Amino acid sequence: MLYTNNSFLKRAGAGVLMLLMFTAIAGAQNTKYKDEISKKSKELEAKVIEWRRDIHEHPELSNREYRTAELVAKHLEALGIEVTTGIGHTGVKGVLKGGHPGPVIALRADMDALPIVERTDVPFASTVTTTYNGAETGVMHACGHDTHTAMLMGVAELLTEMKDDLQGTIVFIFQPAEEGAPAGEEGGAALMIKEGVLENPTVDAIFGLHIQSGLEVGKIAYRPGPLMAGVSDFKIEVLGKGAHGSRPWGSIDPIAISAQIINDLQTIVSRNIDITRNPAVVTVGAISGGNRSNIIPEKVEMLGTIRVFSDEDEQLIYSRLKSISENIASASGGKAIVTVPYSSHLPVTFNNVELTKSMLPTLETLVGKDNLIEVVPTTGAEDFSMYAKEIPGFFFFLGGMPAGQDKATAPGHHTPDFYIDESAFVTGVNALSNLVFDFMEKDIKLKTSMTE
Ligand code: NI
Repeated sequence: MLYTNNSFLKRAGAGVLMLLMFTAIAGAQNTKYKDEISKKSKELEAKVIEWRRDIHEHPELSNREYRTAELVAKHLEALGIEVTTGIGHTGVKGVLKGGHPGPVIALRADMDALPIVERTDVPFASTVTTTYNGAETGVMHACGHDTHTAMLMGVAELLTEMKDDLQGTIVFIFQPAEEGAPAGEEGGAALMIKEGVLENPTVDAIFGLHIQSGLEVGKIAYRPGPLMAGVSDFKIEVLGKGAHGSRPWGSIDPIAISAQIINDLQTIVSRNIDITRNPAVVTVGAISGGNRSNIIPEKVEMLGTIRVFSDEDEQLIYSRLKSISENIASASGGKAIVTVPYSSHLPVTFNNVELTKSMLPTLETLVGKDNLIEVVPTTGAEDFSMYAKEIPGFFFFLGGMPAGQDKATAPGHHTPDFYIDESAFVTGVNALSNLVFDFMEKDIKLKTSMTE
């Protein structure tokens, strides 16, 4: 806490320590750095756009972000930032120490693209192809991670230029594999955390953003508490006894059992979850069994996904899923083997309530009251949740849809027509930089309330 006293003394000046004067000076400094950040964000715009187009034209799939990581590392090194590469495969970490001691704040961007053939007509559209899961496909930044990386490169340059004024340390996290590591590999936020990205220095809080193709440019959307869903996939194997389709009495029919299980799974959300507190989703997305009209198979396999906004709901759904499947199967003389989570799990992306609320004035000053929107939770998932489980985190959505466009016509994320208006980047750079400065100003109060 020493640094807080230092910064107080610095601001108040050594002589006449009048509280009023302190407030006035602190206020003046506040506006000064806000103006400075605005000016620099604008100056950096062309560079950020250039980086973004370069990354967009050269997209790389999860855990294969070699070129992107090199671009990032070279930029950070050129700025004089302390750089570590190869964290969690291709992850890059940069540490920037401010002119004054203070808290450690992490800013995170993801770097990976998706196996999608780009269909936009932008001059920097991707023509990259690769083999994915055995099939030829294009590679495209169809979720905007290229924009996140470029904006954070801009923030790194801006904060380096202003580092003498920084009362603390910034950790830049450029993360691979947000979309999930290839089969058989680890990756993403979980692996970076495992490899110590939040240590040396120990990070106090983390900020991140996601561009949105359906939110108008100039707008920011947020939500204290659960913002994005916790996701688990599951597998149910129903084991029965095969027979000729004409003599079903000799079988234990796994298809009939599966039909009952699917029906009863619908009651988990409608009868077990307190939907007045949080919504939830249970979806069976794949079912396979049998290969011919007159053969009752021995086995049926089902795959599905679960979305929740609280850890308790997650545990409840796991247990109901098992109980319903196992009991229905055994009532018919068969057996159900439930694996949940099956191959992937991400916790709820939970925005620390105190942190979020205390950062809202920063965003409101930037975009104006009407452009700062509190949103309902989204059932999509984000592995930023892994960091926010370790330390207080704040993740928000940045508008990237061209002004005046109808949201209904905006191409969605993970689609071949995904499109982002580049005028969003100034707001993104500005927002992250301001959050850093304001967090450092408010540090003592926040640290106490965030851990309560
Ligand atoms: Ni994404």
